[in-house]
Amino acid sequence: MKHFLSFAQLTADQAMDLVRRAASMKAQGFRSSTLAGKTIALIFEKASTRTRVSFEVAVRHLGGSTIFLTPADSQLGRSEPLRDTARVLSRYVDALVVRTFAQANLEELARFGSIPVINALSDLLHPCQVLGDVLTIYERTTDLSALTVAWVGDGNNMANSWIEAAALFGFTLRVATPHGFEPDPGVVAWAKGQGARLELTDDPQAAVRGAHFVNTDVWASMGQEAEVDQRLAAFRGFQVDAALMQLAHPEAKFLHCLPAHRGEEVAEEVFEGPQSIVFDQAENRLHIQKAILEWVFA
Ligand code: CP
Ligand code: NVA
Repeated sequence: MKHFLSFAQLTADQAMDLVRRAASMKAQGFRSSTLAGKTIALIFEKASTRTRVSFEVAVRHLGGSTIFLTPADSQLGRSEPLRDTARVLSRYVDALVVRTFAQANLEELARFGSIPVINALSDLLHPCQVLGDVLTIYERTTDLSALTVAWVGDGNNMANSWIEAAALFGFTLRVATPHGFEPDPGVVAWAKGQGARLELTDDPQAAVRGAHFVNTDVWASMGQEAEVDQRLAAFRGFQVDAALMQLAHPEAKFLHCLPAHRGEEVAEEVFEGPQSIVFDQAENRLHIQKAILEWVFA
């Protein structure tokens, strides 16, 4: 049985196959009956627009059905242990798509359940998003190893998944974060051990210079609402604005997983400007979810 909890569980060939499969599904407007008779439970402990809707639609395009659960409308909110939830839901449904806080929650569901578990975002990682983002890059240039991607901002779940992706896909990744907001050391060590071309800095300009893709995310992620003021101060100087984009490759594109906070991590002129491909990224969530769903059941 296959889970999709992080890129660390995939080989480079498997990861590339998923991206190519999603590109082909997108070109075909893919519909199938792969999931006919199957029910996928979506358990979301945090808010979502893109991930929830793209998974719900992807499951329908593959002929299956979904059940959406939150702590507020299930016994999870009344402290029923995840290990019990996993064993119960395994007897009703065919896979779990889970958005949660600790990565350990996903691992517990996978360990105690008997059905595939897909990571729809944790505090540590957001692999479905970044795989879709790699598809967005691949649509523009198939030689990923020739690319430099810059990450500017928080060393959060998105940054960590980009670091894992650099190890699998072979592009150069430069990550600029303020002191105290670096990416996860375990993820960095794993990626370096895999031979990732990864450069960590606290200088956004150094990270962006000559980069083909410039990428950022919110300065306070879900669950960090109490830290907003402190974070706004700490990230001053890390906004992706037109001056920063000027340092990138002349044909560089701007990436953001959304939702975005204009005037914080990205300037309005960049978000709405010609280099921004953020809505192509959002669309590609749908196509990559189909490839991921097909893969876990293959
Ligand atoms: N990018 C992303 O995961 O968006 P949602 O929080 O809307 O799912
Ligand atoms: N880093 C953000 C990503 C949202 C899609 C968060 O975790 O809130």
